[in-house]
Amino acid sequence: MSELESKNYFDDSMESWNAVMLIYRSAIKEMNTKIEILNEEFKHVHQYNPIEYVKTRVKAPDSIVKKLKRYGYEETLQNMMEYCNDIAGVRIVCSFTSDIYRLADMIGRQNDVTVISVKDYIKNPKPSGYKSYHMIVTIPVFLSDRVVDTKVEIQIRTIAMDFWASLEHKIYYKFEGHAPEYISHDLQECSEIVSELDERMLLLNEAIQKTKAEQEEDKQE
Ligand code: GTP
Ligand code: MG
Repeated sequence: MSELESKNYFDDSMESWNAVMLIYRSAIKEMNTKIEILNEEFKHVHQYNPIEYVKTRVKAPDSIVKKLKRYGYEETLQNMMEYCNDIAGVRIVCSFTSDIYRLADMIGRQNDVTVISVKDYIKNPKPSGYKSYHMIVTIPVFLSDRVVDTKVEIQIRTIAMDFWASLEHKIYYKFEGHAPEYISHDLQECSEIVSELDERMLLLNEAIQKTKAEQEEDKQE
């Protein structure tokens, strides 16, 4: 659906639709900058980049309409801003599980960021096996005449969790949510392997960091 077509679903003018979308795009830009700064600072302190990559997206108009319908709300800009928490989406893919919690904490502690809700699907994976750390936050977007606190959905996961989630997502769509039992079962097993891999990679990284620190000490003596 094009933006023009989707406009028909909303009883507001095209102009206000565009204005709202500009605010969400701006919120994503701001969040991106914050994440970049944290990544660089982290590298300075810990000698490695905790973030492998960041993906961002503004939710497609037809997906916004679908979600509002699913929730039983009329398709208005007001409802969309109030009830659709993931119009601005930021996905941070980290190297290690420990980095996920460090980053989430650093984001949450920023003065201009307000954490609205947190879902920890790493400690409590979904029945599908899905793992990720989700935060809904608001950040202020400064316009010429006002400041708009804007919601952003942040998903933080490891590379292995991201690999799993993208495959599961493809399968989910292929089977329209009704994958054969053996596939769902295999996916759950793979999700356990993902946890094991993440755990071992974390231990390896800790061992590497420790050895590096010891070598530094030896050099200084
Ligand atoms: P929805 O966005 O309607 O799912 O709202 P919710 O309140 O249930 O949000 P939740 O935090 O559970 O999920 C939000 C997003 O996480 C989704 O849009 C997906 O990007 C991702 N997600 C959640 N569950 C799964 C899953 O089982 N598999 C995959 N691949 N992604 C998931
Ligand atoms: Mg969603």
